[in-house]
Amino acid sequence: MFMGLVGLSFFNFTQRSQEMDSAALGKRLFMDSILSADYTLSCASCHRPEFAFADTSAVSVGVAGRKGNRNTPSSMNMSARESFFWDGRALTLEEQALKPIENPVEMNLKIEHAIERLQRHSEYNQLFIDIYGESPNASLLARALADFQRTLETGSPYDRFMQGDSSAISAAAQRGLTLFNEKGKCIECHFAADLTGDEFRNIGLYDNKIYQDSGRAAISKNPEDLGKFKTPSLRNVAITAPYMHDGSFRTLREVIDYYDQPDKFVSHAINRDTLLNKPLQLTESEKQDLETFLRSLTAKQFN
Ligand code: HEC
Ligand code: HEC
Repeated sequence: MFMGLVGLSFFNFTQRSQEMDSAALGKRLFMDSILSADYTLSCASCHRPEFAFADTSAVSVGVAGRKGNRNTPSSMNMSARESFFWDGRALTLEEQALKPIENPVEMNLKIEHAIERLQRHSEYNQLFIDIYGESPNASLLARALADFQRTLETGSPYDRFMQGDSSAISAAAQRGLTLFNEKGKCIECHFAADLTGDEFRNIGLYDNKIYQDSGRAAISKNPEDLGKFKTPSLRNVAITAPYMHDGSFRTLREVIDYYDQPDKFVSHAINRDTLLNKPLQLTESEKQDLETFLRSLTAKQFN
């Protein structure tokens, strides 16, 4: 009996490792709290799959309840991004992947300790050898996490509409799309396939008093970058509330009200993009249409 059980688990194990590729290993690591100092948090604790790999708190909460200073963005639709983090301080998904592990307010674990844990874990150690021909090391850990995240690309009714299915989105959403492209000027910054141009822009959430995060400028050291943040993709935006780098807007409607009249929210914005100089003067029904359009960017799996 005892021998039989051992035989069975050995069989399962070898079968599993044959099936696993780098992305599948990355998925398992993404979900595993082995990468946090006190074994309480995985990447998925903040990038929660059911919220399009974002979370629901304004700013992130790391080990021992430590608060970060920024909102957790979705880690879906990362394949085409040119930089990562709100301030673009990582240039590849691989470079990005190791930072949350070491960040004291996130997982707070030195990479060398993470690697020791994986090497001592006989199943992980074997999986790395099977997949890459080597025991766990930092660059392979980064590669696995990045390869998994590159599989998280999503479509939407909007995409089907753009491909010619004119009934894929409602008439209201179609009016919203026109507002997005014209009166709302949204497309000036949220353009290309993922509705972001991957540029750093300042929509006015920096006044050095209430809004103190200087964003890109802290990385580039260029005063012209004060208050600029990476324009986020709008895919699945309906389920990634709250919004903005600091999570200060709770609903899509608040975001739309902001773009309509930014001065009502932040009276002394510094270095705000000139595109936001004039109130948009959206009517109530235009605001609703714009929101309906943003909701058409949600992938089927989240409905
Ligand atoms: C404690 C919460 C938390 C954990 C745990 C966490 N993240 Fe994040 N993640 C964030 C926050 C907050 C940001 C934005 C930080 C910033 O811009 O300074 C972020 C940013 C990212 C981004 C960049 C997204 C973009 O649009 O540029 C990716 C990719 C990502 N995380 C992947 C991961 C991976 C992989 C792990 C696990 C190794 C992980 N995260 C663990 C909170 C977390
Ligand atoms: C000048 C460039 C620019 C314009 C114009 C613009 N955006 Fe943005 N958008 C951004 C940037 C940059 C952010 C992130 C800002 C921050 O966190 O401080 C953002 C954030 C957002 C978010 C929050 C996304 C998230 O995941 O938190 C939504 C929703 C959004 N924009 C929708 C719109 C809509 C709708 C319009 C048109 C009415 C619009 N944007 C016009 C650059 C722009």
